[in-house]
Amino acid sequence: MKPIEDVREISALTYGFIASKALFAAVELDLFTRIARGADTLPAIAEATGVAANRARTLLTTLKTVGLITEKDGRFANAPATASYLVAGAPGDFRDYIRVVNGGFLYEGLRHLDKSMRGEPVFPDKGCYEGIVYSEGGVGGPAFSSAQHAGSLGPARLMARRVDLTGATSFLDVGGGSGAYTLAFLKQNPELRATILDFPETVATARHYAAAAGLGDRVAHVEGNALTTAWPGEQDAVLMSYVWSAVGGNDISTLARRAFAALRPGGLVLVHDFMVDDSHEGPDFAAWYLLAAMLDNPQAECLTPGFVEAALRDAGFIIEGTATMLDEITQLTRARRP
Ligand SMILES: C[S@@+](CC[C@H](N)C(=O)[O-])C[C@H]1O[C@@H](n2cnc3c(N)ncnc32)[C@H](O)[C@@H]1O
Repeated sequence: MKPIEDVREISALTYGFIASKALFAAVELDLFTRIARGADTLPAIAEATGVAANRARTLLTTLKTVGLITEKDGRFANAPATASYLVAGAPGDFRDYIRVVNGGFLYEGLRHLDKSMRGEPVFPDKGCYEGIVYSEGGVGGPAFSSAQHAGSLGPARLMARRVDLTGATSFLDVGGGSGAYTLAFLKQNPELRATILDFPETVATARHYAAAAGLGDRVAHVEGNALTTAWPGEQDAVLMSYVWSAVGGNDISTLARRAFAALRPGGLVLVHDFMVDDSHEGPDFAAWYLLAAMLDNPQAECLTPGFVEAALRDAGFIIEGTATMLDEITQLTRARRP
């Protein structure tokens, strides 16, 4: 990133969250779907959304300034990316993820970033995730996991296509959450059976999604803490997706050693997470996610491929390499137990 020279670039950052909030408000009103379905004038938008014309005009103007919509002769239209990703029924529709995870969870959580930077817990009696998701007026556990699951399905399919598990029969998904990655690997590999290890509250959600996908009989669940509960052994592959960014320094080595012990010789470990490059220059989205990860865990590390590979090497793995999984956001490190 080029060092900034102009005060307006500072202002753009200072006020940038207002544009994010405008997007969240528009998604909440399902404004882009309404425009796509023909409510494309100010009076029609005001009527369709129930928002008074003066307020709708101001919101629409803000959305125009960031390129989400255009206006010509009094008619509004969605920009190409808006039409592809922010409209009901569009191929890449991820409105729920934006509404619940970005708008409801991350935005609310980041209000507490100063506390987290000082190493203070955001809530006195619970983690930030639990506090924001389950507190009064919070987004709620089921809404959060369903949005998270929907957001993970695409990346999970991508990973399952890229990682060849031919011949593998056992797969352990540590901190597997709703099980999106497990389900994608099971669909891709008909001989595979999987185990998801996660906290008890999360395992109930994972059971629900496995059954809904018709794959319940190929998934076992272990309820517990990945740092202390025994992992099933003799695995062909172990996946940890977005888990290393959620635990702290020493716990990362513990997970690496436990993965090594759970794999059969020749078995594959996959660490998928937000990672910045080794020089800590970017990419920006990865850096921003890692900053948000600190809300829940003040010990969280600024992960890089070098850091992840060193932790795996220290645990005895032979590194195969790290490659981009989601452009500008995540990396996947592969390593084998010799
Ligand atoms: C961000 S979610 C990722 C879920 C899933 N791996 C995915 O990529 O969609 C992180 C998951 O790790 C789990 N997790 C974090 N620390 C854990 C621990 N010590 N033991 C078990 N699960 C843990 C959380 O409960 C959560 O489900």
